[in-house]
Amino acid sequence: MFDPAAGYPTHRPRRLRGNPRLRDLVRENVLTRDDLIYPVFVYHGSDVSREIPSMPGQRQWSLDRFGEVVDEAADLKLPGIMIFGIPEHKDARGSAALRDDGIVQEAVRLAKRRAPELLTITDLCFCEYTDHGHCGPLSEATGRTDVDNDATLPLLVEQAVSHCRAGADVIAPSGMMDGMVRALRAGLDGSGFAHIPIMAYSSKFASAYYGPFREAAESAPSFGDRRGYQMDPANGDEAVREAALDLAEGADVIMVKPALAYLDVARRLKDEFRVPLAAYNVSGEYAMIKAAAERGWIDERRIVLETLTGFKRAGIDMILTYHAPDVARWLQRG
Ligand code: PBG
Ligand code: ZN
Repeated sequence: MFDPAAGYPTHRPRRLRGNPRLRDLVRENVLTRDDLIYPVFVYHGSDVSREIPSMPGQRQWSLDRFGEVVDEAADLKLPGIMIFGIPEHKDARGSAALRDDGIVQEAVRLAKRRAPELLTITDLCFCEYTDHGHCGPLSEATGRTDVDNDATLPLLVEQAVSHCRAGADVIAPSGMMDGMVRALRAGLDGSGFAHIPIMAYSSKFASAYYGPFREAAESAPSFGDRRGYQMDPANGDEAVREAALDLAEGADVIMVKPALAYLDVARRLKDEFRVPLAAYNVSGEYAMIKAAAERGWIDERRIVLETLTGFKRAGIDMILTYHAPDVARWLQRG
C-alpha cells in the first residue's frame, strides 16, 4: 500500500493526467450501455403516448403504442427495461395487479415477442393498483391504518408468478414489506420459476425524490405517507441490515433507491456484501437535471455522464435510469 510518509517517488500525480491516452489507461471506472436499465410506464387505454410534464422526454404508453419504446430500447441494445403499469381500475386490494391479462403482464408478453433478447424486469408492488395508493392492502389491526404486511406477501407472490407466466425475466419487489423476498423465493420456486432472479429494492428510502414518478404512475398515497414501510433517509446502518436480510432470504441483486443522496449507502453495501448492486436514479433526480438543462444552466450530457460514472465509482453495477436511451446514444457516438 502506498505510504505518503515513506516518501514514495510519485509525488506528482499530474504526470498521469497530461496525456489523454495515459488518462485512458489509469481510468478506474467506465460507464457503458451494458450498465443501464430503462424504466418505462405502460398506461391503460389506447393510442396513448403522453409526455409526463415533470419528466421531459419520458412518456406513458398504451399497449398499442408500447412497441415504440420497446423497439427504441432494443435498437439501442440496452440490456433491459423495468416495466411499470397504470391500470384502468383500482381497488382496495390492488386486484388488477394479479390478472394474467393485466397491463404489466400484457406489456411483458408484447416486449418478449418483439425483442426477445431485451430483459423484462417487472416492478412488483401495489401502489399503482390500489385506490388508496399504498403499497398493499390496509388494516386497522395495529390501532392505526397501516399496510398489512403479512397479507401483502401472498399477493406479491401471486403478482410475481403471474408476471413470470407472462415471460418476465427478473422480478423486482419494491414495497419494502418484511419477509417479501423469502415469500417470493419460495413462491417462485414452488411454481416452476426457480430460475427467475429477484432484484430486491433492499434500501428504499422514504424520499421526496419520487414526486414526478407518482405523477407518472398515478400512485401517490391518498392519505398519509410511506414512512411506515420505506426507510428513514437518516439511516445507513439500517440499510446494511435490510440488505443482509434480503440476501439471507434469497435476493440475487440488491438495490439502493434513490441514488444521488445515498451513494455512501451504495458503497457500504458493496464493501459489506460484494454482491450485484443496483441503484435507481429516480424521477426527481432526472427532473432536476432536465429542468436545469432546459434553462441552459448545465451541460446535460456531461452532467449525466459524470453522475452515472460516479455511481459506478460508488460500487454500483447496474443503474436504473430514465437517461438510459440518451446515454446509449451518447456513448455510441463516442
Ligand atoms: C413504489 C415505487 C416508487 C418508485 C417506483 N416504485 C416510489 C414511491 O412512490 O414510493 C419511484 C421511482 C422514481 O421516482 O423514479 N413502489
Ligand atoms: Zn409501492
